[in-house]
Amino acid sequence: MMKQSFFSFSIIILFLLQCTTTVGQPIPAPLPPPTPPSPTASPPAPPLPTSSPPAPLVPAAAPGPSGPTNLTKILEKAKGFSLFIRLLKSTSVADQIEKQLNDSSNGVTIFAPTDGAFSSLSSGVLNSLNDEEKEELVQFHVISSYIPLSQFQTVSNPLRTNAGDTSKYTFPLNVTAYPNSVNISTGITNTSLSGTVYSDGQLAIYQVDKVLLPWNIFGAKPPAPASSPTKRKKESDDSTSDDTTVTDSSSDDTVNASGAISLKIMTMQNMVFSGVAMVAATIFSL
Ligand SMILES: *[C@@H]1O[C@H](CO)[C@@H](O)[C@H](O)[C@H]1NC(C)=O
Ligand SMILES: *[C@@H]1O[C@H](CO)[C@@H](O)[C@H](O)[C@H]1NC(C)=O
Ligand SMILES: *[C@@H]1O[C@H](CO)[C@@H](O)[C@H](O)[C@H]1NC(C)=O
Ligand SMILES: *[C@@H]1O[C@H](CO)[C@@H](O)[C@H](O)[C@H]1NC(C)=O
Ligand SMILES: *[C@@H]1O[C@H](CO)[C@@H](O)[C@H](O)[C@H]1NC(C)=O
Ligand SMILES: *[C@@H]1O[C@H](CO)[C@@H](O)[C@H](O)[C@H]1NC(C)=O
Repeated sequence: MMKQSFFSFSIIILFLLQCTTTVGQPIPAPLPPPTPPSPTASPPAPPLPTSSPPAPLVPAAAPGPSGPTNLTKILEKAKGFSLFIRLLKSTSVADQIEKQLNDSSNGVTIFAPTDGAFSSLSSGVLNSLNDEEKEELVQFHVISSYIPLSQFQTVSNPLRTNAGDTSKYTFPLNVTAYPNSVNISTGITNTSLSGTVYSDGQLAIYQVDKVLLPWNIFGAKPPAPASSPTKRKKESDDSTSDDTTVTDSSSDDTVNASGAISLKIMTMQNMVFSGVAMVAATIFSL
């Protein structure tokens, strides 16, 4: 008799467990999809520099002796710019500059960082950039007009580079001419021109001993409109992201939904509990 009732007791328990697991499974389903930490309010993506129209399929006629400017050649001849040359090539900015020089009479000005400038960046900085950022970094060193050294005192800041937008948090670059130097500030990098590499009335290349780091890539993100800097801190600290982070940006719906779910769970627990109590009562009464 005892054995039999114990057996049925086990059956009931098993049944209840089965119930809770099978009935329990759907529970996670209605959960609102985990609200991702609200996206880092990043500044509007800077308009990509208008890329040159696709090159004609038929190769242009071989340039004559005084053909289009060969930027690579000029920099190679100057020596000490091999890393910048590599970047100019890999991002295709060199081609764009050469095309620009050929197609327009505005000219081009380039701030060319030396190999030393690149090697003084902490290791990994360049490798951490994606292709778009690499191109932006290179374009940030290029201006779509020819600026002779004597004209820097007349430029109005911020100077527009081929990286695009010059507003705060994007790609501002200031050039200030002093009696003995022409200084550049990006908000992150301060440096000054350390020499003229090349100048022909169309193309000006100035040497800089630091890579000009644009704010957009290397600076702090602008504060999100509706929240304080603590918000960003929270986002960066994902491991501690808790309910507050989730409900932070979520509507009443989510709160109510999770409320409903916890109610459901409570009901389930009650059911199991009373089931066990019932069984226990039955056994005791035996
Ligand atoms: C430019 O110069 C480089 C090196 O001097 C050379 O490899 C390349 O073919 C040249 N490009 C053109 C379009 O002539
Ligand atoms: C240079 O510009 C001329 C027109 O100004 C054009 O015919 C030629 O194809 C261009 N060359 C290159 C290499 O873009
Ligand atoms: C550049 O100059 C402008 C105007 O003088 C100024 O408002 C801005 O803060 C400067 N930015 C940097 C990065 O120096
Ligand atoms: C750059 O120079 C300006 C003034 O010349 C200074 O206020 C700023 O702190 C400097 N920034 C860096 C990163 O050195
Ligand atoms: C210009 O930059 C040089 C270093 O590149 C610095 O020594 C000098 O103080 C700067 N001048 C001004 C007025 O900021
Ligand atoms: C959520 O629940 C609160 C009270 O618990 C109620 O006032 C509110 O209207 C509910 N919101 C929705 C969207 O059901």
